[in-house]
Amino acid sequence: MLFLISLLPLAVLLLILHHRSRRTATLPPGHYGLPLIGETLHLISAYKSPNPEPFIDTRVARFGPVFTTHVFGEPTIFSADPDVNRFVLQNEGRLFECSYPGSISTLLGKHSLLLMKGSLHKRMHSLTMSFANSAIIRDHLLKDIDRLIRFYLDSWTSRVFLMEEAKKITFALTMKQLMGFDPCEWTESLRKEYLLVIEGFFSIPLPFFSTTYNRAIKARTKVAEALSKVVRERRRESERGERKNDMLGALLDEEAGGGRRFSDEEIVDFLVALLVAGYETTSTTMTLAVKFLTETPLALAQLKVVNETLRVANIIGGIFRRTTSDINIRGYTIPKGWKVFASFRAVHMNDEHFKDARSFNPWRWQSENGAACPPSTFTPFGGGPRLCPGYELARVTLSVFLHHIVTKFSWEPAEVDRLVFFPTTRTQKRYPINVQRRNPAA
Ligand SMILES: *[C@@H]1O[C@H](CO)[C@@H](O)[C@H](O)[C@H]1NC(C)=O
Repeated sequence: MLFLISLLPLAVLLLILHHRSRRTATLPPGHYGLPLIGETLHLISAYKSPNPEPFIDTRVARFGPVFTTHVFGEPTIFSADPDVNRFVLQNEGRLFECSYPGSISTLLGKHSLLLMKGSLHKRMHSLTMSFANSAIIRDHLLKDIDRLIRFYLDSWTSRVFLMEEAKKITFALTMKQLMGFDPCEWTESLRKEYLLVIEGFFSIPLPFFSTTYNRAIKARTKVAEALSKVVRERRRESERGERKNDMLGALLDEEAGGGRRFSDEEIVDFLVALLVAGYETTSTTMTLAVKFLTETPLALAQLKVVNETLRVANIIGGIFRRTTSDINIRGYTIPKGWKVFASFRAVHMNDEHFKDARSFNPWRWQSENGAACPPSTFTPFGGGPRLCPGYELARVTLSVFLHHIVTKFSWEPAEVDRLVFFPTTRTQKRYPINVQRRNPAA
């Protein structure tokens, strides 16, 4: 879900700079760069390359792992320090709160898990977590994950764009998990609208100027209407005593169990946001896992790649928060209302925490050191009260997908394709591969 943070650049570039009093004496050291745009262009050009690390490296070398910069329209405290990151995650809702531009809340819906706060967030987060826990995955979800992945792989012939295929798969899985639908004409037409909504996240959020954004808002209305219908129908079914084993069923059960009745709008927002959450992140991870495997043939034979892919690809490179009071940390003071970026990627890519951190090495997880890394250094899914509730589901999906692609196909890249990290983590050409079925009879 938090892939959305990578959209901030486009959204926030347009905001007017809001100067606060700079108590520079106690702030972490750093550079503000140019007026207004600060160091934003440095950051963007680094992340548009396969090797964005130097942006962070040079600043960490000069100022230490906690430094001040000025990106996307405002001064920002950047943390490449696992303990500071952990502090930020653990103090969610107390000392820090999440902060997203208005365009995201318009597209996602204000009742999404990403934007909820306080006790409602707690209740919905724990509901989502328990829907996707390991027992439920094993007993209910795994069968469909396996079936749907095989269904899509069966249609592959010769050349495929892996990124596209992975997205079809994650969409289908999410539709099944949320509302119990198998791929059909209806889900396909919903997917078309939904793609327009996703595009809107990457556009400049000014309705008068951006047709992409306008189109996204319209598409979101259509998606919401379609899902409202489903919710109404399911309510009628549930009054007749029918129930289904999906996320919507869990929500309706929760109501029936004496919780406050949700409005249809709340349920729809919640579902739309979860539909967004697993889509881009999981499909990109699936694609990059295959890319890394292709480039590391020995790992292909052993298939112990999940943690290492999560560490290196880390689709959500970190999280933006805003301080809700003055915060003293590491001898510095971060004033109330300041932006903080806790970078997970900077920790994952640091030799101090992972030996030879910048190479893809699945075997590091077999050694004592890899497997026993302190929980604050390996945080591909964040942590604390906003830990990604789909973390286990994502791991299972990735493993099942890799199992099937490896056992059913051999493949080679169809073209040289480059990994970039801006505006989102992706490969430039959607990773085209030529596939060949291993055993057509099987
Ligand atoms: C992968 O990471 C998780 C922590 O997120 C850890 O529990 C697990 O042991 C790791 N797997 C391996 C093979 O080291």
